[in-house]
Amino acid sequence: MVCVCKVNCESNIGFLIVVVDLKSMGMTVRRVFVFIILLFCSFQILNAASADYKKALTNSLLYFEGQRSGKLPPNQRVNWRGDSGLKDGQDARINLVGGYYDAGDNLKLGFPLAFTITMLSWSTIEFEDQLSEHKELKNALDAIKWGTDYLIKAHTDPNVFYGEIGDPDSDHSCWQRPEDMTTPRSSYKLDEQHPGSDLAAETAAALAAASIVFKSVDKKYSSTMLLHATQLFDFAKNHPGKYSDSIPPARQIYSSSGYEDEMLWGAAWLYRATNMKKYLDYMGGASDSGGVRTEFSWDDKFVGAHVLAAKFVLDGEADASGIWAQYKTQAEEYVCSCAQKSNQNVQKTPGGLFWFLPWNNNQYVATATFVMSVYSNYLSSKGASLQCSGGDVSPDHLTSLVRSQVDYILGSNPRNMSYMVGYGSNFPQKIHHRGASIVSIKKDPNPVSCKGGFQDWFYKDAPNPNVLVGAVVSPDGNDKYDDSRNDFQLAEPATVTIAPLVGVLAYLA
Ligand SMILES: *[C@@H]1O[C@H](CO)[C@@H](O)[C@H](O)[C@H]1NC(C)=O
Repeated sequence: MVCVCKVNCESNIGFLIVVVDLKSMGMTVRRVFVFIILLFCSFQILNAASADYKKALTNSLLYFEGQRSGKLPPNQRVNWRGDSGLKDGQDARINLVGGYYDAGDNLKLGFPLAFTITMLSWSTIEFEDQLSEHKELKNALDAIKWGTDYLIKAHTDPNVFYGEIGDPDSDHSCWQRPEDMTTPRSSYKLDEQHPGSDLAAETAAALAAASIVFKSVDKKYSSTMLLHATQLFDFAKNHPGKYSDSIPPARQIYSSSGYEDEMLWGAAWLYRATNMKKYLDYMGGASDSGGVRTEFSWDDKFVGAHVLAAKFVLDGEADASGIWAQYKTQAEEYVCSCAQKSNQNVQKTPGGLFWFLPWNNNQYVATATFVMSVYSNYLSSKGASLQCSGGDVSPDHLTSLVRSQVDYILGSNPRNMSYMVGYGSNFPQKIHHRGASIVSIKKDPNPVSCKGGFQDWFYKDAPNPNVLVGAVVSPDGNDKYDDSRNDFQLAEPATVTIAPLVGVLAYLA
């Protein structure tokens, strides 16, 4: 007897084809029976109805097109945007056109940008098969390359890196489309006299991780990125300092708390990209393992470094002793705290969302769910589970916790609101975002002035004219969200939030 089963989950119909060889009266007769089975996969259908991760994944990558600076390509899908920042770098007589606007303003900020690119690359490395299956791999590569092309331009000499374009004060005192900017586009750089190990090492991490992504796609591009990454790491190592001391305007917006985390994280990515022992030795020789962390963010990459170190231990590339044992324990303590199985659990809102900090809380939810997804994969590939002080956690349990957090963001929450713009029927209409809140330049090419934008658009009690699909904002600690344009703590989406979600959504889709 032969059995062939074919299931089409989209139409919810299964075919069972049974081929039976019957022996009768000395002859063999082959009969084929076809059964149509209904509701064969009703369980999957129900899940798909609760959240459409595939749609959310598509949205998350569209978001990056909405944040593009520079000359937009012919295949640009977010059509309400136009070319902008075409003279960036002119004050330094170099070309710094391109890259991404950081959040709802028109600044290009190297520190959160590099972290964004590292997380987009990690998302792609870890969940490449899923991205490919959902036809989003090309979009993920494009999203990474839009950032890495810019980072390469900004690295003009081995020990010179341009880390910021624009001034927070003048930028924030205007409300203009990026296409209309009249604000100074000052370029700020690091060099030997103005070091910034955090920014240089994070950029090294971004370019090293992206070089892994592009290895099989574009070998030449991949090795170019790796060369820049190794130079930037050496610059970071040989000229220690905090970038926000060298680029003063960064201090008021993305002030760095230290560079030891970026150095470890940069070394971990360079090890993955090169397999060179010196990077492993750098991690092994660190004087401080960082301790157990309570967040993973643009400022604090210890968790990322710990998780990569734990992978090296699990894969037998590093000894499970000394500082390596500490790294792995600390990675697992963080995951345990997210899984609510440690002595110091991550807090939750009454509605169940992880609660870290009041300003853009979902950026921390995004990195936490990313780490849980990745760790779930690492554990299941070893047939292992996580031993927490509050009990064991299986990889499947981690995955279901990730799903519940993402479901909250996508609408399963006390407000029945999707915190991803363009997803579901009830999503934020007034996000704090200059480009989205002002009529598209394609519809009205008359320039919007610095102050005119406030009068005509910012204070307007109406939905944004442009939908920045894929942007993610945050409710407060009591699951409330007022959808108020001037609430930059809750209503301003940032690239650092969406980059890890690309990986998480690919994982769940
Ligand atoms: C959310 O949806 C549920 C179920 O449909 C409903 O009972 C509840 O009242 C809704 N909450 C809000 C704030 O709309």
